[in-house]
Amino acid sequence: MSDPARPTGSVSLVSAGPGDPELLTLKAARLLAQADIVLFDDLASGPVLDHAGPQAELIAVGKRAGRPSARQEHVNALLVDHARAGRRVVRLKSGDAGIFGRLEEEVIALTEAGIPFQIVPGVTSASAAAAAAGIPLTRRLTARRVQFLTGADVTGHLPGDINWAALADPSVTTVVFMGQRSFPELARGLRAHGLPGTTPALFAEAVGHPHQRLVRTTVEALAQMLRDATVSQPGLILYGPLAFGRDPDRPV
Ligand SMILES: C[S@@+](CC[C@H](N)C(=O)[O-])C[C@H]1O[C@@H](n2cnc3c(N)ncnc32)[C@H](O)[C@@H]1O
Repeated sequence: MSDPARPTGSVSLVSAGPGDPELLTLKAARLLAQADIVLFDDLASGPVLDHAGPQAELIAVGKRAGRPSARQEHVNALLVDHARAGRRVVRLKSGDAGIFGRLEEEVIALTEAGIPFQIVPGVTSASAAAAAAGIPLTRRLTARRVQFLTGADVTGHLPGDINWAALADPSVTTVVFMGQRSFPELARGLRAHGLPGTTPALFAEAVGHPHQRLVRTTVEALAQMLRDATVSQPGLILYGPLAFGRDPDRPV
C-alpha cells in the first residue's frame, strides 16, 4: 500500500556478474550499499551480497531449474510494492541482467506502475567463461559472429523452433545457457545439420565461484559426458573454432 506522504522509491535492476564479487561493477556495489531492500536470484547470491549495507533487507526470489521458485508475477509485485512504499530497491540478477534474465517482464511491470527504474549492465557468465578459459569470443576471419542460445524453454526442454542453420555454422562462437540437460539432443541436431562432432567445445561450470571447472573437449564428447551427468552447478557450453584456444595455423 503506498503512503501518500512518502515519495515513491525506485528500482535498480542490477547485474551481479557470474559470482566473483570483483566482477561487480562499481555502480552495482554502490547501489547495493545504498539499498533498503535487495531481491536476489539464486545465482546472484553468495559473496556479492556482502556489498549490501547493514540496513538492507535481503529477499531470495530465486529461480533455479528443478527447485521451487517465486513466480514472476510475485517478483514484479514485490518490486512495485516496495518502491511504492518509498524504498530503494535493488533487483539483483546473475551475469548481465539483460541476458536470459526475464528483465523485460520486470521493466514492463515497473513502467506500467509508473515506478522509476534503471538497468545496470554487468559481466555475463559467457564472457567470464571465455576469460577464465583464456579465449576471446571472436576472432578476425574465422569467428566473426557470436550467438547466445537458451538450451531450455519454459518447459525446461530444448526450444522447438531452433534455427539449425545458424547453430550449425562452423565459423561462429555459440554459447548455450541452461543447456546441460538438453545438450545431447542439441548435439544430435547439430550433427544432422552438418556441424562436425569434432568441433571444439568448452564446458564451463560455476564460473567465478571457488569450485569453477573448465573442460575443453569436442561437441561429440561433451554430449557423451553430459548424457548421464547430474546437474548441480550452473554451466555454460561454448562451441566453435575458438573453444580450444588459439589455433596456431590461423592468423590472429
Ligand atoms: C537464467 S540464466 C542467466 C544468465 C545471466 N544473465 C548471464 O548473463 O550470465 C542462468 C544460466 O546462466 C549460466 N550461468 C550463470 N552463471 C553462471 C556461472 N557462474 N557459471 C556458469 N554458467 C553460469 C548457466 O547456463 C545458467 O543455467
